[in-house]
Amino acid sequence: MELIPAPRAIEGPARTTVPLDRDTTLWAGPGTERTERWLRATLGAALALPLRPGPPEARNAVRLLLDDTLEPEAYRLDAVDGRGVEIRGGGPAGVFWGAQTLRQLLGPDAFRRAPVRPDTGLGVPDLVIADAPRFRWRGLLLDVARHFMPKEGVLRYLDLMAAHKLNVLHLHLTDDQGWRIEIKRYPRLTETASWRARTKIGHRASPLWDEKPHGGHYTQDDLREIVAYAAERHISVVPEIDVPGHSQAAIAAYPELGNADVVDTAALSVWDTWGISANVLAPTDTTLRFYEGVFEEVLELFPADAAEFSPFVHVGGDECRKEQWTESVTAKTRIADLGLTDEDGLQSWFIGHFDTWLAARGRRLIGWDEILEGGLAPGAAVSSWRGYGGGAAAARAGHDVVMCPEQYVYLDHRQAPGEDEPVPIGFVRTLEDVYRFEPVPAGLTAEEARRVLGTQANVWTEVMEDSARVDYQTFPRLAAFAEVAWSPLPGPADRDFAGFERRMTAHYRRLDALGVAYRPPTGPRPWQKRPGVLGRPIEGPPPNR
Ligand code: ACM
Repeated sequence: MELIPAPRAIEGPARTTVPLDRDTTLWAGPGTERTERWLRATLGAALALPLRPGPPEARNAVRLLLDDTLEPEAYRLDAVDGRGVEIRGGGPAGVFWGAQTLRQLLGPDAFRRAPVRPDTGLGVPDLVIADAPRFRWRGLLLDVARHFMPKEGVLRYLDLMAAHKLNVLHLHLTDDQGWRIEIKRYPRLTETASWRARTKIGHRASPLWDEKPHGGHYTQDDLREIVAYAAERHISVVPEIDVPGHSQAAIAAYPELGNADVVDTAALSVWDTWGISANVLAPTDTTLRFYEGVFEEVLELFPADAAEFSPFVHVGGDECRKEQWTESVTAKTRIADLGLTDEDGLQSWFIGHFDTWLAARGRRLIGWDEILEGGLAPGAAVSSWRGYGGGAAAARAGHDVVMCPEQYVYLDHRQAPGEDEPVPIGFVRTLEDVYRFEPVPAGLTAEEARRVLGTQANVWTEVMEDSARVDYQTFPRLAAFAEVAWSPLPGPADRDFAGFERRMTAHYRRLDALGVAYRPPTGPRPWQKRPGVLGRPIEGPPPNR
C-alpha cells in the first residue's frame, strides 16, 4: 500500500478494485464540508473527476461522515467493491486525514493539478483502513524571517503539510534579519524592518555577500488568507513574534525599543548576517506597550477558533543576549524596581508579562525552552529545542510540551556527510536519523508523557535563500518526520527503516508530481549544490533521550 505516514491497521487489499470514475458521486454528511470542497477541488482537478453530489446509498460513491465512536482525528476508510469508498472520521479533521489517504491510494497522478492521461480505469484497492494519529500536535516551523517566503510558497507548504497529515504551521515571523507581518499601527515595521540591504551568503564566517536587497512581508489580508487556507485543511497556524531577543529588525525601525542608553539604536539597520544579535529589547514600559499593540493585531489576525491549536501564540523567548542589559542603567533600575536578582530575571519578567496579557485574552503562550528559566505560569507551553531536557522539565512541572530538539529535527542541518551537501551546517541528520527520532523524553511517568502534545520539525532558513533550497532541506526528511508524528512506531532501534525506504519509492513519485525539489537518495543534483559556500558542520552522534 506504500502509504506515508503508515496507518495503524490495513485489512486487505483484496484482489478487486473499487472504481473511481466520472460517474462516481460524492455524498458529504453534516460536518464534512471542508473535505467535500477539498476532494472536488484537488482530486477532482487532478483526475478529471466531477464528483457530482449523489445520495448516500449510491453504489459508485464516495461517502463522508462523522462517527463519534472514533477519536476526533481518527478515521476509517472502507473501499468495498459495489459500495464505493466510505470515509468516517471521529471529527471533521479525521475525515480530512482519511481523504489524504484516499489520495495516496489513487497513485501519483492524484498529486498533480490537472489530468495527464485519459482515464484508464482509476480505482482504489478493496480494503479497510483504521487509522489515528499518535500525537495531536504534528508541526512544521517555517522561518520566513531569515529568508522571506512569499505567500504562495506558504500556501504550497500548507498543501504539502496536509498531504503528510501535519496539522500545525509555526510561522516564525520576526527576527533580527527581518519583520514579516504588517502591523497597521506601526508602519515602519514593514517599511523599514521587512528588508535588508544585503545578505551574508553561507555561514556568518563566510566572506561572501549577496549585494541585492532582500525582503518582503505578509499584509494582514495575506495572513487572513493563510489562516483560512490552513483551517480548510484542519491546520492551525501559530504565529511567532520573538521577544525580548532576536529583535534587531524591530529596533532598526523603532529605535526607542532598544537599549538606547548603551548603543546608538538610531544607527542600527536590519541585520545582514547570521548569529544572535546583541541588540535586544529594552526592558521598559514603552517596549511592553509597543508589543501589546503588536499582539492586539496578531490576535485579531490569528483568531483562537480557527483550528485546534489556534489559541496558542508563540513569543519566542530564546537566545536573549544579556550584555546590553548588564550595561544599561535603565535595565539595572528595572531589575532593582522589580526586586529581581539579575538580568536573567528580566527575561522571565518579559515573558511573564505577555503570559498574563495573553491569558487575560483567552489565549495561551508558548515559547522556546529558555522561558522555563525563572518559572512559568501554569497555562504556558514550551517548545523544547535544546535537546530533551527542557521538554522533560516542562512536562514534570505540568506544562504542555512540543518536542523539537535541534539534534534531531532541525531540518537546516545537513542530511549527509561529505562536501556535496549545500552549505553544510549542524549535525548530519539523515533520513534514517529522523525516522528513528523518538519525541517523548525518556523517564517520564505516563501522566507526564501525556503533557507531550506532540512534535515539530523546524526549518530555519539562514542558508535557504529560496523555496527550492527549503524543499531540499525539508524533503524527504519531512516524510519520515510525519510518520514519527502520526504512526504508532516501535522504539527507535526497532523501527523498520528498510520498510519505510521501500514505501518512499512510491512517495518520491508523489513528491515529483507535487513538484517538490527534494534531496534525491543518491545526493544533490548538480544545481542543488553550493560549491564554495562556507557552512559550519558539527561532528557527533545525536544525544540519547
Ligand atoms: C532556536 O533555535 N533558537 C529556537
